[in-house]
Amino acid sequence: MSVPRPILPEPIIPRPIIIDCDPGIDDAIALMLAFASSETLEVLAVTTVAGNVPLHLTEPNARRVRDLCGASQVPVLAGCPRPLLRRLVTADDIHGASGLEGSGLPPARGTADTRHAVDWLRDTIRARPGEITVAAVGPLTNLAVALVQRPELAYEIREIIIMGGAAGAGNVTPDAEFNFHVDPHAARIVFESGASITMVGLDITRQARALPEWLQTIAALDTPVARCVVGMLAHYGSVGGSLHDVLAVMQLLRPELMTFEACRVEIEIEDPETIGKSRVTRGVPPPEANAQVGFALDAPGFRAFLAERLGRYGAV
Ligand code: BDR
Ligand code: CA
Repeated sequence: MSVPRPILPEPIIPRPIIIDCDPGIDDAIALMLAFASSETLEVLAVTTVAGNVPLHLTEPNARRVRDLCGASQVPVLAGCPRPLLRRLVTADDIHGASGLEGSGLPPARGTADTRHAVDWLRDTIRARPGEITVAAVGPLTNLAVALVQRPELAYEIREIIIMGGAAGAGNVTPDAEFNFHVDPHAARIVFESGASITMVGLDITRQARALPEWLQTIAALDTPVARCVVGMLAHYGSVGGSLHDVLAVMQLLRPELMTFEACRVEIEIEDPETIGKSRVTRGVPPPEANAQVGFALDAPGFRAFLAERLGRYGAV
């Protein structure tokens, strides 16, 4: 790509971030973690995409979580209602028909913002080159469309933290992780964009499990947020389910809990058997490496930190 990479300004604290998501139970807990960490993260907006459930549910679901967390100042913007080429595949078997099964949350207050997430992402990042981090924890459709509209965006985004992919086994097919499987073409566009990418894939997120004794700690908080988390996790896949998306936000708060390696990541878009697979080649020096990929997690440290942050919510 011929556009010059800007010299990044000094890091800003709190770090401005946009969370692009498809709530989704683990997305909801990732939002709770971010909203509870305002001394470190300034959530500029939550953008939503079709994924775990259709867009007409992910957008109000993000507002329901925002309402619960008392973060009414954060805009929620709906983006793309379908993947670039493929038919939408959802994960309501894991997250329930509403996407937030067991949350006990009331309908979202107010009305939906009419601005389109892709326009907002593109224009907001362009206005602050080198400053804004995107935590992308759903299919990558919104980011891909923004990057097609404006390739320079790859160098204007400070960093993209992606929950998606796997060096090892997938979770929807033997090869593919859900977010990349839903929109593999978008994932390909993002990984080939030249952006600075950190990939928090299944290799590390499978270690971030909500163990029963940890859930008891959360239940003992006995707040609306804690009751929502416990209620949702009772419905989330199997006991001790992995809090995939939470790790993408945690990476911005406590990166020392994780190990990363520079890798080359390539997304399969042609073979119907393996479509959405991320081929991860380790031990690759820059410039061939296009992502830092997470492998090991201090899981007890992760759970302790998340419990501390969820404990910050009172009777909101
Ligand atoms: C990813 O898929 C979704 O179901 C979760 O929200 C997470 O983003 C894990 O593969
Ligand atoms: Ca998600």
